[in-house]
Amino acid sequence: MSENKTFMITTPIYYASGSLHIGHCYTTVAADAIARYKRQNGYDVYFLTGSDEHGQKVEREAAKLNKTPQAYVDEITDSFKHIWKLLNISYDGYVRTTDDYHKKTVQKIFKKLYDKGDIYKSEYEGHYCTPCESFWLERQLKNNCCPDCGRPTELVREESYFFKLSNYADRLIKHIKEHPEFIQPASRANEMLNNFLLPGLEDLCVSRTTFKWGVPVDFDSSHVVYVWLDALTNYISKLGYLSDDDSLFKKYWPASVQLVGKEIVRFHTIIWPIMLMALDIPLPKQVFGHGWLVLEGGKMSKSKGNVIDPIALINRYGRDAVRYFLLREVPFGSDGVFSNSALVNRINSDLANDLGNLLSRTVAMIEKYFGGKVPAYDLNSALGKELREYASALPKNVEANMNALKIPEALQSVWALIDKCNKFIDDTKPWVLAKGENTGDIETLGNVLYHLAECLRYVAVLTTPFLPDTAGKMFEQLGIGGELTTPDSLKAFGGLKEGTEVKKGEALFPRIDVQKELEELEKLFPSEPPAKEEEAKPEIKPEISYNDFAKLDLRLALVENCEEVKKSRSLLKLTLKVGDETRTVVSGIKSFYSPDELIGKTVVLVANLAPKKLCGIESHGMILCASNADDTKLSALTTMQPMEHGLKVR
Ligand code: ME8
Ligand code: MG
Repeated sequence: MSENKTFMITTPIYYASGSLHIGHCYTTVAADAIARYKRQNGYDVYFLTGSDEHGQKVEREAAKLNKTPQAYVDEITDSFKHIWKLLNISYDGYVRTTDDYHKKTVQKIFKKLYDKGDIYKSEYEGHYCTPCESFWLERQLKNNCCPDCGRPTELVREESYFFKLSNYADRLIKHIKEHPEFIQPASRANEMLNNFLLPGLEDLCVSRTTFKWGVPVDFDSSHVVYVWLDALTNYISKLGYLSDDDSLFKKYWPASVQLVGKEIVRFHTIIWPIMLMALDIPLPKQVFGHGWLVLEGGKMSKSKGNVIDPIALINRYGRDAVRYFLLREVPFGSDGVFSNSALVNRINSDLANDLGNLLSRTVAMIEKYFGGKVPAYDLNSALGKELREYASALPKNVEANMNALKIPEALQSVWALIDKCNKFIDDTKPWVLAKGENTGDIETLGNVLYHLAECLRYVAVLTTPFLPDTAGKMFEQLGIGGELTTPDSLKAFGGLKEGTEVKKGEALFPRIDVQKELEELEKLFPSEPPAKEEEAKPEIKPEISYNDFAKLDLRLALVENCEEVKKSRSLLKLTLKVGDETRTVVSGIKSFYSPDELIGKTVVLVANLAPKKLCGIESHGMILCASNADDTKLSALTTMQPMEHGLKVR
């Protein structure tokens, strides 16, 4: 294979928190179809995917389930790999950001950029959106919430390292302008230029100190590397960049296509290329920002409770049907709508009726009228001329669409051949020809069936990258293997040999009773999911007397010392000064505060609460915190002005 025929494609690495829904599967199935297409056409392909396992979001999710982050991400990654196996995803590399080689590369890159002066230490003060793992300035917030996802942000103030994005802004602007293919679709390039690059880039905070679950900065271990810097590195760490063996990196980088959802185009077309420029590495040839699979009611999201489970769909319809729906229904670059009826109708009409039926009728007629052997044919006949011409031009047509990443259009062009074949049957009426009423009818019948079988062979070869199982079944029923299943064999119409034995098999896709199926699906995936309760506004408890209240002894306490409780994922041990007294209090706030953040702060203590043992430590009292219903946000209470410890709160 010649050197220049390599092709690297990547998907984002998925957050290892919670399960994948059908929307996530879209990127990976699309990448798989492209990878398979390129392999089929002679490229040496490297298809990379993986999981994004660090960060505050993962750490909190694990703590909630009372698991170690590592045990948690191990389980999640297994579940991801399981889904990819079910969907027949042919990745060549799977990167986990908790893998050793990856962590080492992240550390080396961080050091390299620090030594170069592109990374420097300072203090960050601003907002952080944990679900998106992204930093925002006050002025960028929308209604005080994350401008990307609309969820509340947290105020953070901590010592941080910063990456001087601005050093490379001009070079990046120039690159984007000179390489219109770099960011696709083009509208997304304009968005990046106008909203982020041209107004001027802020330096990016690239380390955190208030939680632990990340790659430590090796020369300053109280810092962990910002999860996006860590995650983006996956694309080259897996190839061995900066390791002893960087042969994959040399062979496959720069990537040909990096597929990403539209909400993370910003990270992939600003931060990522700037990292690469700072490292003197070539940029990927293309970053393609695809749209979302949305529900009629809006984006699928775990917090909305309206996600569709891919495993349920695969079990019900088979993986090729699910792949087909995803690839056919979402116009590449824009959003596609998932609904039960869109899914069922697509599968029933395109797969069961149009394709499945064409194959079974063709094979059945060859069996019935020609003893199961492909009949003799005439490729110069007027009959079938249109089919021959359309089929012959089809491989190029598919190629042009695939090069533009227009997957639905590529499939559409193949289905147009299927439609033509079905129409050809209606027009030529093989069952009438079979009566042999006119001389030559039987030869004509043979020629009709030959054209159908050869067109089906084209369809099978061309759908192989998209529907690998189905194509395999088609080859089997058409009785062919080897060379005749490759794109090379589509160079001239007429590859199928007279006398080939066909074998009728099971229906490719069972026909669906649409009405009945929709009723069943409605039970599985209600189109109007029960509205998730509003962020619980806890009810006010029953009234108490002043005497009841006065039983509480609330005091100001100074956090003199604070350390992590080693055996626990959620607990911190605080040493509090309360007037003359010193107290030990254990508090479940480890995922929100680091010990350093609390030391020196004045908090509110419930001083007369009966002592209790937590993880073997006697905790005497409790500190007051405000938090939301699912404990994803929490703040310890303190006073507006500095006040001495020991004072009563009343
Ligand atoms: O963003 N339709 O991970 P992620 C289509 N870890 N695509 C969807 C979708 C939907 N309904 N929902 C999600 C991250 N996706 C980071 C990436 S890369 C260095 C780090 C897509 O698990 C989404 O657009 O939140 C994104 O491309 C991918 O799933 C992973 O999302
Ligand atoms: Mg996301």
